Amino acid sequence: MPATVLVTGGAGFIGSHTTVALQQAGYRVVVLDNLCNSSASVLSRVERITGARPEFIEGDIRNAALLDELFAAQRIDAILHFAGLKAVGESTRKPLEYYDNNVHGSVNLLQAARRAAVQTFVFSSSATVYGDPQRLPLAEDHPRSATNPYGHSKLVVEDILENLYRAEAGWRIARLRYFNPVGAHPSGLIGEAPQGVPNNLMPYVSQVACGTRPRLQVFGNDYDTPDGTGVRDYIHVMDLAQGHVAALRHCEKQQQNLLSVNLGTGRGYSVLEMVRAFEKASGRPVPYDIVARRPGDIAACWADTALAEQELGWRATLGIDEMCADAWRWEIGRENLQEE
Ligand code: NAD
Ligand code: WQD
Repeated sequence: MPATVLVTGGAGFIGSHTTVALQQAGYRVVVLDNLCNSSASVLSRVERITGARPEFIEGDIRNAALLDELFAAQRIDAILHFAGLKAVGESTRKPLEYYDNNVHGSVNLLQAARRAAVQTFVFSSSATVYGDPQRLPLAEDHPRSATNPYGHSKLVVEDILENLYRAEAGWRIARLRYFNPVGAHPSGLIGEAPQGVPNNLMPYVSQVACGTRPRLQVFGNDYDTPDGTGVRDYIHVMDLAQGHVAALRHCEKQQQNLLSVNLGTGRGYSVLEMVRAFEKASGRPVPYDIVARRPGDIAACWADTALAEQELGWRATLGIDEMCADAWRWEIGRENLQEE
């Protein structure tokens, strides 16, 4: 019997790619998603890639009765917890929604997991927990802080997981701190599908390249970086997905553990470098204007990847050319994808 993994938020951007990687690594996947930022058609497209349809339960991680039913109906060996809200700007306008979904939702999920004696838990954290970097690259022991409700919700859940690990024997917990996930599955069948105006750089760049939006706004060119624009550690979502498989395998080998680990490439690229890479991959121009800095942005951040290599035996393998080529294939193909 293959191990069965519950993937919350498995219809979303990172969860769907991780579902593909998990299935290809031999796991059986059960997806729980309330579809507040995704569509059930993603599951059919995952099936087209892997040949196996993940079991799908439409529902909310805050629904305790639903979770009890789910855990009673089948044996779940581990939980990968992606479900949550992720827009930084929106979180400052709707803090209660963010704490309810991200913090209360996670606590509810952990309580149900405990009732069902499932103690292997992989959490989607974020490099945002490092706040404004005091030194680069960012290592896992860098002090943590938050400047917005979204980031704070990740900090709080990280702390809850640590408290739980210290209070009760047997938990195997990985807190994965993602840097900037971009790209798409190379098939072009799944990718990032932001609703409305994209908040993040690469989905915006894709939409400018394909003509959906006229111009990119580059938020500041007066940072202390080589070309003055912000520098980030962009990581291909397929590498990120493999990082989850590695983290799960690592947890499975432990009696109990609490691991906090960066998932990044260890290299930073500026906004303008990403724009040029996208122009090359797509063969389309990406016109832009330099505008004021975006409030709350930091100048630069990239990961120290040593711990991930040491503990998980995992490192990112795909570069910005693959990130842009795969994001572009997804962007131009997705309108023609048949909704099944
Ligand atoms: P996403 O919005 O594409 O996926 C999240 C999924 O969770 C969606 O399918 C949504 O419908 C679902 N969901 C939300 N609230 C739910 C709830 N209460 N119950 C059930 N399902 C719910 O986002 P993503 O980019 O795939 O991010 C996944 C996780 O990774 C999130 O926790 C996010 O905070 C974290 N993360 C994302 C990034 C990033 O830049 N994309 C970076 C760091 C961390
Ligand atoms: C990248 C760079 C912008 C848009 C965010 C969250 C973080 C994490 C990942 C979840 C910056 C610049 C952007 C645009 C621009 N998410 N930019 N024009 O801010 O590094 O991280 O997503 O955990 O918590 O804060 O990513 O893609 O928004 O920005 O010039 O239209 O692109 O200023 O330098 P960010 P991003």
